[in-house]
Amino acid sequence: MTNKPTSAAGENAVRPADPCVMVIFGAAGDLTKRKLIPALYNLAKGDLLSREFAVVGVARADMSTDDFRKKIASDMQEFATSKIDSDLWEWLERRLYYVSGNFNEPATYQKLQTALAGVDEAHGVHGNYFFYLATAPDYFADIVTQLGTAGLAREEAGQWRRVIIEKPFGRDLDSAKLLNRQIKETLEERQIYRIDHYLGKETVQNILIFRFGNGIFEPIWNRRYIDHVQITAAEKVGVEQRGGYYETSGALRDMAPNHLSQLITLTAMEPPISFAANEVRDEQAKILHAIQPLTPEDVLSKTVRGQYGEGEIGGERVPGYRVEQNVSASSSTETFVALKLMIDNWRWADVPFYLRTGKRLPQRVTEIAIQFKRAPFVLFRNTPIERLTQNRLVIHIQPDEGITLRFGAKVPGPVVQLGAVEMKFDYADYFGATSSTGYERLLYDCMAGDATLFQRADMVEAGWSVIAPILDVWQALAPRTFPNYAAGSWGPREADELLERDGRRWRSIGE
Ligand code: BG6
Repeated sequence: MTNKPTSAAGENAVRPADPCVMVIFGAAGDLTKRKLIPALYNLAKGDLLSREFAVVGVARADMSTDDFRKKIASDMQEFATSKIDSDLWEWLERRLYYVSGNFNEPATYQKLQTALAGVDEAHGVHGNYFFYLATAPDYFADIVTQLGTAGLAREEAGQWRRVIIEKPFGRDLDSAKLLNRQIKETLEERQIYRIDHYLGKETVQNILIFRFGNGIFEPIWNRRYIDHVQITAAEKVGVEQRGGYYETSGALRDMAPNHLSQLITLTAMEPPISFAANEVRDEQAKILHAIQPLTPEDVLSKTVRGQYGEGEIGGERVPGYRVEQNVSASSSTETFVALKLMIDNWRWADVPFYLRTGKRLPQRVTEIAIQFKRAPFVLFRNTPIERLTQNRLVIHIQPDEGITLRFGAKVPGPVVQLGAVEMKFDYADYFGATSSTGYERLLYDCMAGDATLFQRADMVEAGWSVIAPILDVWQALAPRTFPNYAAGSWGPREADELLERDGRRWRSIGE
């Protein structure tokens, strides 16, 4: 066996993206310094940025282009994911520009227009612009409208204009629909790139390759062989500095219509007829539409919400949610969610998808566990074996990236005894540790005009439709037992009962 990856280099060599300008709204904020600029640097390092490239940052802060360059250079010392090469950094830094202004004032867009004309001339970017909205969501619609009014969204003479929109895209189905309507007054759907950073994760992208690039898994990837699926997205951290946002969101809105939906659709979708953006997204959308709508009664029996109280994580006492900064002392906001969803189609009928996500859980771990059905017991009926191992395939998304397959094997010795063993593929072992921000591929794809890993309007709305009944019932019935799990535990007792009622249990992570 070789541990060298086979590659199609040559046939598939990756080219630098198109010449363009990336305009970042919210350029003085966290996302820009933590992810976007380090990602651009990594792309430049991999020769994936065009030589004809520049960035224009837009934010309220009063700064000159020089100040902006200095600020970003110093942020890079903290947030670069690899050692900074000074020549390369200098190349990128010379391409950073800044425009200060309020996002809702036309004057800002006039300044931006002038700046872009100058940048176009200095760097020959062919008039291709993409706008990254890394702002508070309240500004999304306004910025797009203003871009339209200023003529900055118009595609003429072969130039392209694209807009990347961060999450949250709406806070429920109605507001997501409204936002879609508003931005579509200015933009065509093909110009809109609704980002979900989960799709920037290698292991999430690998789900499709694993399923459809191999012949041996797909024949068993269905209700005949799979008992159920468990998806866990657990975080050790609490709400940190984001109490204000989180109070208006909660774990369900924060994680389910976007990140968890991605994991479900990639796990459950049918093979697309090609990897073209709309073919892949059509199949994902079908899964979202096939999720059985929850009735109010279902919400009571198939969903669980929780909020952490004080507790201990890694030997350290941590406070409860209600005493976090900017959180109400009587908050009803959930910090934990567990759901049981059913997908009504031929492949998945009767196969439950159990989902759980929460803050202040014992470990940071995101994974998809596919639990296969037990083998028939017949052969071992007269053999003193108590339990047969259930085969389980786990796709580890983070922090460890890889795939493990568990199966039963004979324990060496004179008596027949079965033990559970694992075959393990670890990304870092095979491909070496990578140091990316997770935004590289998404930025590159946008510059290359490939929207496969971005959300289409119908997908975002379908994601919200799935959780709409839950939001309604939870809003009508205030939780009475919050806080109902201790920080450092795996969530409220009801989350275990959700599976126990079906004769199952959550897999012990780390087991
Ligand atoms: C964000 C949520 O979208 O995803 C956060 O708003 C959450 O609350 C984060 O912590 C999780 O992302 P990751 O990549 O750390 O798993």
